[in-house]
Amino acid sequence: MLQHFFNPSSVAVVGASQNPAKIGHDILNNIVRYGYGGAVYPINPRAQEILGHKAYPDLATVPSKIDLAVVAVPAPAVMDVLEQCGKNGVDSVIVITAGFKETGPEGARLEERLATQAREFGIRILGPNCLGVIDTASALNASFAAGMPLGGHIGFFSQSGAMCVAILDWALGENVGFSRFVSLGNKMDISETEIMLSMGQDENTRVILGYLESIEDGPRFMKAAHHVSKTKPIIIIKSGTTSAGAKAASSHTGALAGSEHAYRAAFKQSGIIHAESMQALFGYAIAFANQSLPEGPSLAIITNSGGPGILAADASDRSSLHLTPIRKETADRLREFLPPTASLYNPIDIIGDASHERYEKTLKVILKDQLIHAVLILLTPTAAVDAESVAREIAGLAKDADKPIVTAFMGEKRVRGARKIFQDHAIPTYDYPEDAVAALNAMLRYRQWLEKPEKQYRRFEANTGKVRKVFASVIKQHRHDLIESEARQILKAYGFRLPENRIARTTREAVATASEIGYPVVMKIASPDVLHKSDMGGVRVGLENEAMVEDAFFEITSNIQLRQPRARILGVMVQEMIQRGREVILGITRDIQFGPMIMFGLGGIYVEVLKDVAFRIAPLSVEEADAMIRDIRSFPLLRGVRGEAPADIEGILDGLLRLSQMAIDFPEIIEADINPLLVCPEGQGAVAVDARITIHE
Ligand code: COA
Repeated sequence: MLQHFFNPSSVAVVGASQNPAKIGHDILNNIVRYGYGGAVYPINPRAQEILGHKAYPDLATVPSKIDLAVVAVPAPAVMDVLEQCGKNGVDSVIVITAGFKETGPEGARLEERLATQAREFGIRILGPNCLGVIDTASALNASFAAGMPLGGHIGFFSQSGAMCVAILDWALGENVGFSRFVSLGNKMDISETEIMLSMGQDENTRVILGYLESIEDGPRFMKAAHHVSKTKPIIIIKSGTTSAGAKAASSHTGALAGSEHAYRAAFKQSGIIHAESMQALFGYAIAFANQSLPEGPSLAIITNSGGPGILAADASDRSSLHLTPIRKETADRLREFLPPTASLYNPIDIIGDASHERYEKTLKVILKDQLIHAVLILLTPTAAVDAESVAREIAGLAKDADKPIVTAFMGEKRVRGARKIFQDHAIPTYDYPEDAVAALNAMLRYRQWLEKPEKQYRRFEANTGKVRKVFASVIKQHRHDLIESEARQILKAYGFRLPENRIARTTREAVATASEIGYPVVMKIASPDVLHKSDMGGVRVGLENEAMVEDAFFEITSNIQLRQPRARILGVMVQEMIQRGREVILGITRDIQFGPMIMFGLGGIYVEVLKDVAFRIAPLSVEEADAMIRDIRSFPLLRGVRGEAPADIEGILDGLLRLSQMAIDFPEIIEADINPLLVCPEGQGAVAVDARITIHE
């Protein structure tokens, strides 16, 4: 896939220059100096030879086939070069040139023309406005980056060229090897999805890293990530997730950034490891590239001081890792050589006077314990310890270890040498214990992702014909918001349980209906024009008798007449009152990049004040629906606290899955709320009490 971009037999640099100040010179220089073995053709109308290679005035004069063209001529000349590429059978082109979509509408139009031309010629384009590509296996550095990374197993793609440069510099400084570097630029043609898929197939790439500001086709991206992440970890940092950041993202590459909830959900659902910071991205990358995944959650911490051990223990508590107590056999073996003041619990504190031998012996014992799945070694540079000797001992043992080992040697001057030893031996090392724990936790979560069974989907019978009819009538009336009775029909068509409900036009009708339904009842204004019924004084609950129903009828109708005089009033809805239910909210929204999203939260203040909600992209699998219910902080309230009966979680799950199916079946639904869904005690289901649905043609 995209082979000519990474392993071409020949490369032309269009805009190659003899002038070392030009980008075209740098690119050619990078191709030549890092040992690329294929044919190299500088293209320049004025030069005879550049950097020892014969130059050609244009692509047509090159005597043999060109697999890849790297274009670094000014923007107005790029169209012409592309045409030359098309006419001369070049099918893969990297456009370094800036001055397209990222500059505004005129640049966007130029880019559009470029895209059309490329499609006509069947040319694949990386960029424009990119730094280029590096592939260490084929020794190709078709970029203007300063330097060439060591060979290795990390593939990196980035929407920002600057981020490529920064990562490259970090890699060179830390001795971290890379398989590929890809700068995506404006993603006019080749997007993150294709690059991810190509890295998935690349045998030199074991870990995929990405920096993204936007995602081109959310559903396709998720599908590809889901597929690739089942064999290789994908770690992504996404900028522009807050609204302020999103603005920055669009002015940067002219891209539209999606909402944070959507990204988080999409990453979670497709197995992507989300790095929250650059530090985390680097930290995870070295752990994944160099260590095996932990078999399970049990972590052992070895430390020569209490404080860092506690910090690591706290961080582990907040993660999915467990600091399991050291079992007796292992503790007995440690006791043979550790001083009596040492702590044999986890963290294992081998105390301040520990030497490198003590570290070595302790690690040896811990590595043999099959109940421990990962080891974190901490060190503070006391006078008694030579950090470099400790690092060498660890490196010696890590070679044959069957569990991941990470380290955090705190300090700077006296641990610098040790860190270098770790880098040379591919042992992940971090400045602080929390970062080390975070990396191990990411590895554990990835292992859990790999072990997850195939997603299971549930399909319900639904009266889609009825829904279509209701929507058509709403659109015909030039409305977008459904009135309550319409929304009820939609929910009914999807098998939701609804409270009994009838419209009464007079107090007498209201009283008669209430006694048929059975007390207590709820009454609500029935009007196509009142959307926020409670806010308008259009709802009364807990009406226990005739007198209360009569009063409520007058009160509700006069509230609406007073507050919304133009509202058409059809009457008052008399509704069965569901008791002993807990209020939750289910909803549909649409994300510009990922499509339909399903929301879940507890009702009232939990949603409004605490914003304690969970999102997932539809369609939801059964496991995803279940996970989103458990994701919210207030989940224990549903399980039942202080002797309360647990709520019917299965009823919520059922509702979420039905809603998800509805969101997929009807893309015209742009927003919907079931608020509240009253969840009865376990085994008794849930009732959709009120719903708001907004559609678009
Ligand atoms: N075919 C072949 N060579 C051509 C050409 C063509 N159609 N048109 C121009 N050239 C040659 C020029 O003669 C020049 O060579 P010379 O120095 O020997 O005269 C060379 O190509 C470059 O053209 P020049 O006009 O000097 O442009 P430049 O080097 O100043 O700028 C870019 C070209 C592409 C670097 C510049 O337009 C640009 O986009 N810079 C920003 C790049 C960037 O930031 N990308 C994103 C990174 S993340």
